[in-house]
Amino acid sequence: MDICFATNNIKKLEEIRHLLEPDFRVKSLAEIGCREELPETGDTLEDNSLEKARYVLDHYGIACFADDTGLEVEALGGEPGVYSARYAGPERDNEANINLVLQKLEGIENRKARFRTVITWVSEKETRQFEGIVEGEILPERAGGKGFGYDPVFRPAGEELSFAQMSMDEKNSMSHRGRALRKFIEYISPEADKA
Ligand code: IMP
Repeated sequence: MDICFATNNIKKLEEIRHLLEPDFRVKSLAEIGCREELPETGDTLEDNSLEKARYVLDHYGIACFADDTGLEVEALGGEPGVYSARYAGPERDNEANINLVLQKLEGIENRKARFRTVITWVSEKETRQFEGIVEGEILPERAGGKGFGYDPVFRPAGEELSFAQMSMDEKNSMSHRGRALRKFIEYISPEADKA
């Protein structure tokens, strides 16, 4: 069965292909001929991932899943949340985003934060959402050079290393996206038998 993952991020594609093939052939946006930017006009992770997946089904006629992730910092009232990629401006500059979070937390004791991912699966038959959360805290300064985004300043609860100091496997075993992905895969895998 062919399905689309609404992304062109090679790392994310490789990870999900590894888990779903050969039962599902997972196609990227480029591979289904979708070159335009997908709409993301919602103000929640749920709305945005639904909007992206539904757009692909409606315009390209292929069952699709999309993910949306946000870093939610307790002392900042859940910011940057759904605006994580553009927190410091439309340039989507990771370093500037991290600097802004560190700056806003200066002098604040409560460093609690979490990553939350919502995956939405949309087919002709159904729409389903899967959530993955990892709790942790924002470090006072960057640690580690792996990963991406806010990884250097996020340390999961009970861990000694930041996400940027962990191997990809170690991060995936406890990460927000890993958790949401495993729920989705558990749900969709039996579907392969009916395909
Ligand atoms: P997206 O929904 O996966 O595009 O993620 C939105 C933004 O959240 C990205 O631009 C990153 O800055 C951040 N982000 C998402 N996932 C992660 C992660 O696993 N580690 C660190 N930052 C992340």
